[in-house]
Amino acid sequence: MKMRFDVLTLFPRMFFSPLEISILGKAITKGLIEIQTVNIRDFALDKHQVVDDTPYGGGQGMVMKVEPIARAIEWVKAKNPSAWTIYLTPQGRPFDQDMARRLSTRSHLILLCGRYEGVDERVRELFVDEEISIGDYILTGGELAAMVIIDAISRFLPGVLGSDRSAEEESFFNSLLEYPQYTRPVDFKGRSVPEVLLSGNHSAIDLWRRREALKRTFVRRPDLLDKANLSGDEKNLLAEIRKGHSQ
Ligand code: ADE
Repeated sequence: MKMRFDVLTLFPRMFFSPLEISILGKAITKGLIEIQTVNIRDFALDKHQVVDDTPYGGGQGMVMKVEPIARAIEWVKAKNPSAWTIYLTPQGRPFDQDMARRLSTRSHLILLCGRYEGVDERVRELFVDEEISIGDYILTGGELAAMVIIDAISRFLPGVLGSDRSAEEESFFNSLLEYPQYTRPVDFKGRSVPEVLLSGNHSAIDLWRRREALKRTFVRRPDLLDKANLSGDEKNLLAEIRKGHSQ
């Protein structure tokens, strides 16, 4: 079934080229996903199509007004009342692969992109089902965050990555960093591809990859090891790696 994204933004043009390229472009052409941008300004009914105003109580910057956003969301929801509304904001829950997987089971997302100092609080109270942050930094608006989550969610939809690949083979490597990859030539400026990868010995290659993935995760992102579901053999490998590092 086709998954639909309606992106509510003041800058629809930001979305045109990034989403038309490569894997997502193909997913759109194949009819696996549909992305519609909705210009919030089109839902401002006054002569000057005002979408923002100064904050009550004073302070810096502008706040996005509730009425145009409300009308835009209601317009999308009139066609599909069960659409799930997400507001992209640094105040949201941090986005991760589990959230991408969960959201990929929905058929229709509304992604609300804020600008300026954010949206009137009543937008949150009345229309938003979930708030998501893509990381602890402040972007100039929610648009890039919306693109990030569209990309990560779409990878989970059947057919998007091609028939023979799934976003995550249920494997050991799931929750770890990737092992190093090489392609031709065998030697580049004196640096050679590890011998084992040329050996044709699949079990030795598999063992090497597991060890390298564990090593890299241990060094760069030890926090991920807590979540990883390691087998007894893998725990032993990790113990060896730990020992090697403490020497
Ligand atoms: N809008 C501005 N910064 C953001 C962030 N880090 N995540 C999601 N939306 C945002």
